Amino acid sequence: MSRVVVVGSGAREHALAWGLAKSAEVVVTPGNDGMAAHGLTCTPRPATELEADLFVIGPELPLVDGLADQLRAQGKLVLGPNADGARLEGSKAFMKDFLADADVPTADYEVFSDEAAAHRFLAESMTPPYVIKTDGLAAGKGVLVTNSLAEARLDVSAKVSGDAFASAGSTIVIEEGLDGEECSLIVLCDGRSLFALSAAQDFKRVGDGGTGPNTGGMGAYAPMPIDPDLVDGIMETMLRPTLKELQRREIDYRGVLYAGVMLTSAGPQLLEYNVRFGDPETEVLVPLYGDQLFALLQASARGTLGEVAVSASGAAVTVVMAAHGYPDTPRRGDRIAGLGDDGQLAHAIDGVVVFHAGSARVDGHFVTNGGRVLAVTAHADDLATARSKAYEAVGRISFDGCVVRSDIALDAVKGIA
Ligand code: AMP
Ligand code: GLY
Repeated sequence: MSRVVVVGSGAREHALAWGLAKSAEVVVTPGNDGMAAHGLTCTPRPATELEADLFVIGPELPLVDGLADQLRAQGKLVLGPNADGARLEGSKAFMKDFLADADVPTADYEVFSDEAAAHRFLAESMTPPYVIKTDGLAAGKGVLVTNSLAEARLDVSAKVSGDAFASAGSTIVIEEGLDGEECSLIVLCDGRSLFALSAAQDFKRVGDGGTGPNTGGMGAYAPMPIDPDLVDGIMETMLRPTLKELQRREIDYRGVLYAGVMLTSAGPQLLEYNVRFGDPETEVLVPLYGDQLFALLQASARGTLGEVAVSASGAAVTVVMAAHGYPDTPRRGDRIAGLGDDGQLAHAIDGVVVFHAGSARVDGHFVTNGGRVLAVTAHADDLATARSKAYEAVGRISFDGCVVRSDIALDAVKGIA
């Protein structure tokens, strides 16, 4: 049996490890207590000290820091771009300039490191909504979208001065505000070919109806019911030109290109690229591909993506259960009821799997140990069933102050019904 190392410790990596374990032996570094309770092998040893047939790197930070380069230098097979490709996520200014070179539709923008110049541009050239982004990585929290010029000005000052995001924010991108439905198109790339997974939708705001602050994602579902022609259009106008531009720059990109797309009335616009799987989108995509995940990821690392034939089945919904105080100051240590010793209680529902992120096992029971604690996921033949099963499982799990949205995938289910 092939052996895979998954790098990371969140619910995304739990989902990847769970899916890969259907056809490979999996080791996760560092992993988390929930994965271990699920029977997955976790180790604190760094990936560079491990042996495997395939390495799958979950989070953006190790990619930006060159972990894929290090592993490839050791002769390992890796899913995840080298640091040159990871700049697409590591620097928004780099990404926007890259998109301009590749002629990919995206919001108009300017890059600033000078506070006064940024303020002038805001006042003289932009209209609401104002969109201000940190250039560097900010754990999904570096983007402000506001109708208030005063708030936008404060944000510019806080970012450029380094007060808000240290050096990640000292360069900013100010861009045109876009309006529409958002779609996550997660595409595997092997340097020559592309393979789009089912379109997914993520729920970024903390509150029902898309209210409150942005989070890492409060839930997701897939497939998103969008016109296949629209997906083809996104591939043609965004992903293929991106691959061509990567090739032109001699970047051998083998990993995930996650396109965050705004479906505007004037057509799709690219909000951003991430260079890794989405979280929580991965939690709903992995179940759709069953035991085909390993073959798919291996082919994309090897450069043989053009030869694989895999297909998605059914629909999946994931509902994130976050800790009291999330996203600002999540509380740790709240005891989680409903998981049983090994997740059995919520798992007892057919098609349900509970992926762990910010949880820890203390004296034999789970407690909260981070912002997003669990991603409660259900896979079924159709979206409505998946949704009701996911919420049934959420209803069986509880902890003090739990933050949950009640409307994940609701509009999509209503639209279908
Ligand atoms: P990003 O990290 O660039 O995907 O931005 C995070 C979130 O901010 C996106 O998912 C959107 O909801 C919002 N956003 C980003 N860019 C824009 C924009 N140009 N117009 C409106 N909303 C945006
Ligand atoms: N779902 C948002 C992200 O992974 O960045």
